[in-house]
Amino acid sequence: MRASVLAVALILFGPATAQQATDAIAPEGAGAGELRVPPMLAAAQEAKAAGRPVEAETWMIAAAHPLAVEAGAKVLATGGTAADAMVAVQAVLGLVEPQSSGLGGGAFLVWHDGASGEITTLDGRETAPLAATPRLFQDEAGQPLEFFDAVVGGRSVGTPGIPALLAEAHARWGRAAWAGLFADAIRLADDGFPVSPRLATLIAEDAGRLSRFADTRDYFLPAGIPLKAGEIRRNPDYADTLRLLARKGGAAFYTGDMALDIAERVQRAGGNPGVLAPLDLAIYRVRERPAVCMLYRGYEVCGMGPPSSGATTVGQSLGLLEPFDLAALGPDSPEAWRLIGDASRLAFADRGRYLADSDYVPVPVKGLLAPDYLRSRSDLLRGDDMLPEVAPGNPAFDHALNLADDRALELPSTSQISIVDGYGNALSMTTTIENGFGSRLMVHGFLLNNQLTDFSFASHDNGRPIANRVEPGKRPRSSMAPTILRRDGRPVLVLGSPGGSRIIGYVVKTIIAWVDWGMDAQAAVALPHLVNRFGPYDLEIGAGALAGPLRAMGYEVDETELTSGLNVIALGVRLQGGADPRREGLVYGQ
Ligand code: DON
Repeated sequence: MRASVLAVALILFGPATAQQATDAIAPEGAGAGELRVPPMLAAAQEAKAAGRPVEAETWMIAAAHPLAVEAGAKVLATGGTAADAMVAVQAVLGLVEPQSSGLGGGAFLVWHDGASGEITTLDGRETAPLAATPRLFQDEAGQPLEFFDAVVGGRSVGTPGIPALLAEAHARWGRAAWAGLFADAIRLADDGFPVSPRLATLIAEDAGRLSRFADTRDYFLPAGIPLKAGEIRRNPDYADTLRLLARKGGAAFYTGDMALDIAERVQRAGGNPGVLAPLDLAIYRVRERPAVCMLYRGYEVCGMGPPSSGATTVGQSLGLLEPFDLAALGPDSPEAWRLIGDASRLAFADRGRYLADSDYVPVPVKGLLAPDYLRSRSDLLRGDDMLPEVAPGNPAFDHALNLADDRALELPSTSQISIVDGYGNALSMTTTIENGFGSRLMVHGFLLNNQLTDFSFASHDNGRPIANRVEPGKRPRSSMAPTILRRDGRPVLVLGSPGGSRIIGYVVKTIIAWVDWGMDAQAAVALPHLVNRFGPYDLEIGAGALAGPLRAMGYEVDETELTSGLNVIALGVRLQGGADPRREGLVYGQ
């Protein structure tokens, strides 16, 4: 670190000794079972609790855990870019929120470049091993396995993309020294971090599966007892892994002992081994993909194309709604939610048939977002009641396609990182190990993903292939939708969320709340979710007043918890941020 930068850091944050680190995460008044928040983030936490957005002048950062926000904020305050800060955030998240994302997982990253004005999307998604076949998740009779029989163990583990993505983003857009970006995470791993209430709850709920593997059990349930909120957990193996990356770069993850140990862990997972091999790690590459952008009420909505369905399905949903005056209807109107719900169903029907890794299956992204096609599909929404039936459409495409539909299962974890830096760059990244605690396999202090279960377990239906079937080297279809809205070429809204295939509904709702209903960043995030993917309407507790009218329109309504983890930054005269009240994240800026 340059001397001047170090001086600024010391003024802002003081010298980081181990004792001070422990003090900093235990402010007065925080009980053992409460989320501990560093003093610099106290105002951010107060704002979130009061439902107020956070405001700032120069830079802003939002992530799913206060210690990750603090690490990223230090990087931004000392002249780092959004890419630098993201590396520090991801390194800390892999420690303090290990159930959601980490070095053993994958991510998609959307970048608006302040200098060139260009949008770039990077695909750090896991790949299927070269030895995987379309029957990976089928039994001997060709029947799909039960979801958790597939998830827990080695079979579901794809080649991790995060270490390569961190290195790629830093090489393209970083300014700070690479090694220093791991300092906070290494210190917290060596000295220990307080287990958050959310992590403690999820460990207790998943104790049975976590206990299937001795090293995972010993980490999360020492002596057989689940870690409690507030308990200090050290992770020296993770600190060593980060030191290796800090010293040798991201490539060190994919070769040598690390690659051998990962492959061995997967292949020797008792009861459910996988086929990941050192060669799969050696050939892993981050892919730059064309950004998928779509106009909605004058805003350019940009995000991640295949293998994610995120931007295409968000874009289709918004495109189908464009002809309707949602602003006049407002957020309390059942008619608005009929339109949003059925637009989403139409988009999901196309998603199930057409979306997959475009390196393996031709995907008609352009046809799916073409104005003529969307207009014809949008006309279907002109009735008064729920659409009784929804089928995929026939977008224009220069390939003959005869695919069957797919509905892969997805369950809670995942994390959203949103950052705007002082150089005009904006970053939105959604990062995941897929299911909570991924495959439950741990190696060198981090969990391995179960991302391969995002493939369709069935490979064919009545002799027709399913686009999202398993194939060697292929990337499983995702719903992750890291998104940047722009107006006149400038970023105006940065957002994304966890939530499996509900991510698409969370992101669409938040965009509509901000664009059509004029809500501030925090209100747009907090607005109760109503999500419709396949017909039944999921209503978040709090949106109950809409249940009766939606039932009367023909929907089956399910009132439930909808745990998104939205992080939103709006760029106007000032920066304004919102962090999801449903999770532990915060937004902070200066
Ligand atoms: O890539 C995907 O779409 C999923 N693997 C993400 C999983 C997820 O968001 C779970 N969420 N709560």
